[in-house]
Amino acid sequence: MDVPFLDLTRTHQSMQDELERIFKRVLNQSYFVYGRDVTRFEELFSLEHQVEHCVAVGNCTDALELTLKAFGIRKGDEVIVPALTWISDAEVVSNLGAKPVFVDVTDQGLIDLAQIETKITKATKAIIPVHLYGQMADMVNIMELASEHRLKVIEDCAQAVYAKQHGQRAGTYGHAAVFSFYPTKNLGALGDAGCVLTNDEALAKTVRKLANHGAPDKHSHEFPGSNSRMDTLQAAILNSKLPWLSKWNEERKQIAAYYNEELNHLPIKLPAIVPGNTHVFHLYQIQTDRRGGLKTHLKEQGIQTQIHYPAALPFTKAYEFLNHEFNEFPNAYRIQQQTLSLPMFPGIKGPELMHVVDVLCGYFK
Ligand SMILES: Cc1ncc(COP(=O)(O)O)c(C=O)c1O
Repeated sequence: MDVPFLDLTRTHQSMQDELERIFKRVLNQSYFVYGRDVTRFEELFSLEHQVEHCVAVGNCTDALELTLKAFGIRKGDEVIVPALTWISDAEVVSNLGAKPVFVDVTDQGLIDLAQIETKITKATKAIIPVHLYGQMADMVNIMELASEHRLKVIEDCAQAVYAKQHGQRAGTYGHAAVFSFYPTKNLGALGDAGCVLTNDEALAKTVRKLANHGAPDKHSHEFPGSNSRMDTLQAAILNSKLPWLSKWNEERKQIAAYYNEELNHLPIKLPAIVPGNTHVFHLYQIQTDRRGGLKTHLKEQGIQTQIHYPAALPFTKAYEFLNHEFNEFPNAYRIQQQTLSLPMFPGIKGPELMHVVDVLCGYFK
């Protein structure tokens, strides 16, 4: 039996008529960038999070870069970034001429609070905690540390929309938060899209202008910006998907509970939920020192898996020039060698999950 890592057609088939109506409506109105659907998305998303401002942008990488820029991050500054994450978190810092300062992660792949303080220097201006795999970094303590050192905190919620910590949603702790609606995310558009959430009105205004050529209105450019606007179509799709998100996240949690139950006797590390966290299982990743063999074995039995990530950022070619050693980030290094993400998506079928479990258990017999 073939088991895909992710099959978006299953979600989309269940809302096929509605999606077709949206495509038709947007085509007929022939208004493709910004507009009422985008404003509606901003209203809905900020209301859902009880945060005052939502600025819709083209993708999460832009959301990060524009937010850092609006906070005034520039050449000579340092920004603290977890060693294990998607490259956006570091490349946006580099693109502004600042330096990403990497911090090792915990066993769960979350930025290690204890090590953040050791990396703070006079040049440090901000921290980007990433809520990796679907659960939140230690935001309460990160905010406290940031306030002691007067640092800005930008939560990366790309993998954790609607995740919670102590009952409070991801994206509501930091000075700003960024989200990705890339199609594979828990809330996915049908193309690129992202946003910034913040209670800081001045920041929201600046990000909005930066995303639209430095202009609050057409042709009134106040400074050089860029082009990072949300498409009307993507916003309309996000608006129709948003009411389903909690149900889809719930389904992910049930899939994770099934894997946990069936795999807990194996000599592998399962994803542990940090106390106080509500995990939304964007990814279900196990850790094993037999990853290579296991991945091949699963593939031979038709099961797709992925690796998040095969190289922690300090060990990518892009950051080779910083000359980091493996022993500076032992957890990130171990996870890059051991992590394996199993099929996880709303709509995965019982027999598919059973096949994954059977094949995995068979490998360790
Ligand atoms: C943790 C994290 N941050 C940022 C991004 C960038 O998102 P986007 O593709 O919308 O720019 C991603 C997307 O993969 C991500 O997983």
